[in-house]
Amino acid sequence: MDTLFSVATAALVVRWAHVIFGVLWLGHLYFFNLVNVPFQGDLDKDLKLQVNPKLLLRAFYWFRWSAMYTVILGLVLFGWHYMGPEHLMRSPGRAMWIQYGMLLGLIMWFNVWFVIWPRQKKILGGLASGTPHPDAARLAATSGKASRFNTFASGPLLFAMLGAPHFSAMSAPVLIAVTVIGVGFWFGMIKRSFKIRTDVA
Ligand code: HEM
Repeated sequence: MDTLFSVATAALVVRWAHVIFGVLWLGHLYFFNLVNVPFQGDLDKDLKLQVNPKLLLRAFYWFRWSAMYTVILGLVLFGWHYMGPEHLMRSPGRAMWIQYGMLLGLIMWFNVWFVIWPRQKKILGGLASGTPHPDAARLAATSGKASRFNTFASGPLLFAMLGAPHFSAMSAPVLIAVTVIGVGFWFGMIKRSFKIRTDVA
């Protein structure tokens, strides 16, 4: 039986922390892609200088560190449930789900720390110091592509994270279906983001 002070409680707390940091990470990712991208198109140069370092450096702090904690806690969960006594690697459906999710999650984490943040550091650092980086447009384009990739990948990633403990069936058609639905959902959301009205009429 599960009691308040037990291994099961600790496992639940780790699972909760993993999901809450995941929400914090993806919440910022969606803010960048659904709100900030169209917003930047409306902003003139002087305002960008004033607004962007102060707003975006805060957002990038929560974004990159929540990505780090999500992955660390996710790897703890993986070690615990899949390689520990429960040995869920022996449940093929569940193991395939989580390996697909982890593959996507690790690529996304790599993008955050090694593609997006190093470039944003140069762009926003330049704006903050008053001397914009000469290569800012190219840096922003690469960072933007990685950010878009992460948004698309987050659709199938969440299917995989939820599929592992809650939906054991797994096969090539299921994998393709969740990938198409997950990516397609974000494709539609991004398209919609450029049509949002900013008046209240
Ligand atoms: C590299 C990154 C990640 C790794 C290594 C990872 C790893 C894991 C592992 C091992 C589990 C347990 C699965 C099981 O019990 O069968 C899990 C569950 C879960 N993860 Fe992740 N994860 C990652 C990213 C994310 C992200 C970005 C989110 C976004 C919110 C997320 C949300 C969840 C959810 C909702 C569950 C299921 C909780 C449940 O219903 O029991 N994960 N993850």
